[in-house]
Amino acid sequence: MTLHSSTYKPEQLDVHFSEAQLQARIQEMAAEINAAYPNCEKLIIIAVLKGSFMFLADLVRHIKIPCQIEFVRLASYGDGQTSSGTVQAVDLSLPSLTNEDVLIVEDIIDTGLTLNFFMDYLTSLHHTRSLKLAVLLDKKEARQKDVRVDFSGFPVGNQFLVGYGLDFAGYYRNLPFIGVVQ
Ligand code: IMP
Ligand code: MG
Repeated sequence: MTLHSSTYKPEQLDVHFSEAQLQARIQEMAAEINAAYPNCEKLIIIAVLKGSFMFLADLVRHIKIPCQIEFVRLASYGDGQTSSGTVQAVDLSLPSLTNEDVLIVEDIIDTGLTLNFFMDYLTSLHHTRSLKLAVLLDKKEARQKDVRVDFSGFPVGNQFLVGYGLDFAGYYRNLPFIGVVQ
């Protein structure tokens, strides 16, 4: 699906979470994460691209634990507004995670297919010391696969959101707020 420049109207989006709301909650989430790893010498944070890039960048500014940052790239949505049902592993290259404390960072959990796939993949290949998950947005109603979320920013309803890393047909990721396409 393509989005024509004539229909790209970020000023017409309904603001769902303002920049200030996002930043305030992300600071709280970072505090929860800092508290969950007392005496941790190294945390490996794995962000799931593309959607998580903004959340990751703002979250890690408040992380006090020594951390390494890694990226994987998974795709499931195609260009539309509904999950394609299959997860495409675009890039899964990672260092050894044996005996490491690992935190996955994802923008949104919807059906759970993407994170279910990635968690299964990690646990089948790596014996981590711990494995936790932080998501900014949780679309609980849409869940098809059970996934344990350790740190959650905001529960959201079953609506299509854009901005702050989330895209529609590749657009809107750069917005500092999260909005709903009418
Ligand atoms: P899941 O596999 O259905 O849980 O979907 C996860 C991925 O779908 C997320 O990482 C997003 O990239 C994308 N996604 C899910 N809901 C939305 C949305 O409302 N807006 C934009 N992308 C979404
Ligand atoms: Mg994503």
